[in-house]
Amino acid sequence: MIKNNFETAAIRTQLERTQYQEHSTPLYLTSSFVFEDAEDMRASFAEEKERNLYSRFSNPNTTEFVEKICKMEGAESGYAFATGMAAIFSTFAALLNSGDHIVSARSVFGSTHTLFTKYFPKWNISTSYFKINEMDTLERLIQPNTKILYAESPTNPSVDIIDIEVLGKIAKKHNLILIIDNCFATPYLQKPIQFGADLVIHSATKLIDGQGRVLGGVTVGKADLIQDIYLFSRNTGPALSPFNAWVLSKSLETLHVRVDRHCENALKLAEFLENHDKVNLVKYPFLKSHPQYQIAKKQMTLGGNIMAFEITGGIDAGRHFLNSIKLASLSANLGDTRTIVTHPASTTHSKLVEEDRLAVGITDGLVRVSVGLEHINDIINDIDQALLA
Ligand SMILES: Cc1ncc(COP(=O)(O)O)c(C=O)c1O
Repeated sequence: MIKNNFETAAIRTQLERTQYQEHSTPLYLTSSFVFEDAEDMRASFAEEKERNLYSRFSNPNTTEFVEKICKMEGAESGYAFATGMAAIFSTFAALLNSGDHIVSARSVFGSTHTLFTKYFPKWNISTSYFKINEMDTLERLIQPNTKILYAESPTNPSVDIIDIEVLGKIAKKHNLILIIDNCFATPYLQKPIQFGADLVIHSATKLIDGQGRVLGGVTVGKADLIQDIYLFSRNTGPALSPFNAWVLSKSLETLHVRVDRHCENALKLAEFLENHDKVNLVKYPFLKSHPQYQIAKKQMTLGGNIMAFEITGGIDAGRHFLNSIKLASLSANLGDTRTIVTHPASTTHSKLVEEDRLAVGITDGLVRVSVGLEHINDIINDIDQALLA
């Protein structure tokens, strides 16, 4: 079989045409599917036939979406979820038992951190954390009951880069399941399975949708692990809706062109801010000044659409900057066509004590930008005028 290039797979991976000979995949908005007769129904429930039974288990639109992500990530199998958090929670819950232990990067998405600190301890699942500058001592955190090694790269919101190949080698040596949240990079820029990941998770809500419309999540990777995740999810019910799967599958057709432009805009904005008087520091993976630039170059094809910079003047300057923004949105989402700015120290991370904030790189003046697809001159002008206001 001819293996298609990324772009072609994104567009041409499609369900079989119906009798109507439609060009674009139709929407299968149905909660269940019918059987020919008693024997068909028996054999279907006995899983002797591969077919759709009920949309909590599978649906044609979800199947197409998952198949595309599998091809893009180089994965064997996958399952799609209602949100990124449903994907993260269900993946851990399906694979872990009481008494198991996780080793995770300290800098992970807030709700993921809440799972580790607030909910998993209820089921006697514990977590140890490594910081970005402690990669060489990470192995010391591994215990006899450690089962999962977990990280995101680039990290949120401080845009650090973690060497996935190093994690892959450690996971293999200690027989751990390596799970990477690849949400910031998308499979277009980074394929963690090539570097040793067993499972890759996405919040499809971000660049995969890319237009701020629907929520979604997906986990792909080794077929035996996905089978456990599928059985757990089929019974617990975090499935992606067929409508959202249809929207997301359409979005994947343009992922490569959208992400190319996002990255081009982000690099231009980062270069502009590097020379700005009101900015102390700019973090963007494909700027040579980024502390992990060489690792970013090794594992990513472009730098992504998220960048962070530090305004002189601390928390007050960060709040004043947000109030002076005219074009960009103040919003919690990212990976949208619309540029979004956030000031973590006064908003998303304001409840953390200063020491914990600084431990994950969130200084008082740190601003995160999800660079959108507006004209780059308009994005730069807006950020510039807000810095000077
Ligand atoms: C890195 C990362 N992982 C997971 C999630 C959770 O995704 P969702 O909001 O789709 O549940 C987010 C959301 O912002 C995220 O940024």
